[in-house]
Amino acid sequence: MAGTLWFQTAVLLCFLRGALGAGARLYTEEDPLVILSSSSLKPTVSNSSSAWLVQFYSSWCGHCIQYSSTWKALAQDVKDWDQAIGVAVLDCAQEENFDVCKEYGIHFYPTFRYFRAHGRPDDQGTTYRGADREIQTVRQLMVNFLQNHTKLDWPDLCPPLEPYSSAELLPLLGQRSDHYTAVIIEEPDSYVGREVILDLLQYSGVVVRRALAADRPLLDTLGVTAFPSAYLLLPNGTHTQLAVQKRLRFFFSSLLRLLPGVQRRARRGGGGDGGHTGALTGRPSSEAWRDFDSSQVYLADLESALHYLLRVELATHSTLEGEELKTFKDFVTIVAKLYPGGGSVVKLMDTLLEWLLSLPLDRIPYQAVLDLVDNKMRISGVFLGAELRWVGCQGSRVGLRGYPCSLWTLFHVLTVQHDAMPNALENTALEDEAAPVLQVMRRYIRTFFGCEQCGRHFEQAAADSLHRVQSREQQIVWLWNQHNMVNNRLAGSLSEDPLFPKAPWPSPALCASCHEEKDGVHVWNQENVLSFLRKHYGAGNLSPKYSVTPQHLPAPPAPPSRPQEDRLGGGRGGRAGAGGGGGAGGEKQPEKTRGAEEQPAAPQQVERTAVQEAAGLSGGAGPAGGAGPAGGAGPAGGAGPAGGAGRGGVWALALGFNSVDMSLCVLLYVCSCLFLMLLFFFFRVRSRRWKLRHNRPFV
Ligand SMILES: Cc1cc2nc3c(=O)[nH]c(=O)nc-3n(C[C@H](O)[C@H](O)[C@H](O)COP(=O)(O)OP(=O)(O)OC[C@H]3O[C@@H](n4cnc5c(N)ncnc54)[C@H](O)[C@@H]3O)c2cc1C
Ligand SMILES: *[C@@H]1O[C@H](CO)[C@@H](O)[C@H](O)[C@H]1NC(C)=O
Ligand SMILES: *[C@@H]1O[C@H](CO)[C@@H](O)[C@H](O)[C@H]1NC(C)=O
Ligand SMILES: *[C@@H]1O[C@H](CO)[C@@H](O)[C@H](O)[C@H]1NC(C)=O
Repeated sequence: MAGTLWFQTAVLLCFLRGALGAGARLYTEEDPLVILSSSSLKPTVSNSSSAWLVQFYSSWCGHCIQYSSTWKALAQDVKDWDQAIGVAVLDCAQEENFDVCKEYGIHFYPTFRYFRAHGRPDDQGTTYRGADREIQTVRQLMVNFLQNHTKLDWPDLCPPLEPYSSAELLPLLGQRSDHYTAVIIEEPDSYVGREVILDLLQYSGVVVRRALAADRPLLDTLGVTAFPSAYLLLPNGTHTQLAVQKRLRFFFSSLLRLLPGVQRRARRGGGGDGGHTGALTGRPSSEAWRDFDSSQVYLADLESALHYLLRVELATHSTLEGEELKTFKDFVTIVAKLYPGGGSVVKLMDTLLEWLLSLPLDRIPYQAVLDLVDNKMRISGVFLGAELRWVGCQGSRVGLRGYPCSLWTLFHVLTVQHDAMPNALENTALEDEAAPVLQVMRRYIRTFFGCEQCGRHFEQAAADSLHRVQSREQQIVWLWNQHNMVNNRLAGSLSEDPLFPKAPWPSPALCASCHEEKDGVHVWNQENVLSFLRKHYGAGNLSPKYSVTPQHLPAPPAPPSRPQEDRLGGGRGGRAGAGGGGGAGGEKQPEKTRGAEEQPAAPQQVERTAVQEAAGLSGGAGPAGGAGPAGGAGPAGGAGPAGGAGRGGVWALALGFNSVDMSLCVLLYVCSCLFLMLLFFFFRVRSRRWKLRHNRPFV
């Protein structure tokens, strides 16, 4: 019951987004298509290196308004084909476009026109007159239209779409090459092969061909019996059938894109080339690559996120007050209550939270927060590694991935944890919020996240639809959906790491049952996505590999009343006990893991390298200047023995009061003195009055 209910609302959520936008402009620059006008139509479509499909619409026509969401979905679906055939719109209701629509003889809206590549300037295109305007139909028409080109006007970058014969393909077997060759073998009326060829158009390192199921010699040699199938010729001369769970276009395309060495090519426009070469000359990552398993989530990434957030990003705010302070408090609350594992990080966040809540000040210096994060008071069991150790968030070079990746990961984990522990936020200020994790994330991103443009986008999305999130499941799904929209938007942009291309997530390799096809269009199975997210970001899938933070609380002072934590802590302990990373993938580098678990590096030393590293991390996130104040704060003495205290289990709360504690003491002392004095004067005055009043008659 509840399941179907949220499912419906989630679907509704997606539709409402489209409908809401319709009030203003039907299409915006954010949509994955080209918006044409009277001045740009002809230069764009005539003598173009690619073919074009243009929808002439009118913003007042109800039909066009209804159809716009389909058109956007089509444009998204064939976004990667745009070097062969582009998708565009032109609004005939705009005054400046009246003339051009008349010139092109547009009588009805919407009108669909195909323009051939290398067409003459007087080419007015071919009108599509079919009744069916569904995505699959139009997409197949685009393929047919491309194939209608002759050798002479063939779009420059469009690969051949005709089937290859066994005579052409069989000689390739056993040959070495600098790329993969994938052969899609299919029935003649299937479009899968041609669609996959076009899907891979912008990727280097792989060439896709199609062949027909009627080609006996080919089938006999390769042993292919089911269609469509993909057969893969590897660069080293070996060949194998590509294993797909479902014989769908989306599965073939995503598997081919994720082959090692296959990369998205630099974009033609947008200064892609210059940007990429410039980027490549950047400082290469000096660190050794850490092997990881993309089906796991790494604690090292979460800890690095918190380290960067608390010690670098926050450091750009020298004092926290008002909205900032509230946001920070809420963030600390969420992490303290929901961060899985109950280890020293939770202890730190708990301490920080207690301190923030007990503080009577409405403005606190950042330095005080830093002192606590660095555990200057040497509270036993409190520790947060002061090192950026990206694992699942490693980039192929400095400036890619890292912090923003880990921040996404952290919030995904928190939404899933909130769902797993419904009561965790009881008795906090966030208890009554409908989507507390998302609201806190929204406020955090808006207030502190260094990437300003990201903040604006996220705020827009949150303002549009966050109020519709009413349950913990919807929270998980909303964030997943939002993240995929960002992935879609950023695919092919400069901030994309070529080794980690942005794509709809989870890929079929991670979750085959998450993907389906409906009327020839890829759709998500949202219920399966939800259960996948619960599993993937659940406490059971967190790997301690490479983590510098001890996973056990060092003995006695157990935090009061956190039952969930005990349960999780037990699980973690069991796993670690099984032998230093005995969990999935652990066997690859056991020594390293064990070393990391046993001895957290001396914080002071680590701290400096971490800050240096942070300063070099100039990417999209976090203004580079942000590292400045942290650098200043880093070497401040006193942090030395913290590592020892964390390990040795010396319960030393009384030992090292820091400046904030001292000033609080003084404040308290002064207050109580004042109070006593007030009391004293009050009673003196009262007793004098009393004497005056009562003594007179007797005198
Ligand atoms: C709130 C926010 C807004 C941002 N907005 C922008 C922006 O507007 N412009 C910009 O250039 N950059 C933006 N970024 C940064 C950008 O989204 C990436 O984080 C960055 O480019 C690094 O990408 P990545 O390849 O490491 O993968 P990320 O997108 O950071 O993803 C990290 C990991 O999460 C998993 N994942 C991927 N997709 C999903 C999903 N849908 N659901 C659950 N898990 C998933 C994968 O394992 C992936 O490796 C934003 C970041 C954040 C946190
Ligand atoms: C079309 O473009 C090509 C180069 O892309 C150019 O050589 C040719 O002259 C152009 N033809 C017309 C008619 O503009
Ligand atoms: C392809 O060309 C044929 C013959 O010229 C024509 O009948 C058909 O409509 C064209 N198809 C498309 C999609 O343009
Ligand atoms: C060819 O490469 C694949 C994958 O990279 C590998 O599994 C296989 O062993 C290699 N074969 C040879 C003969 O090198």
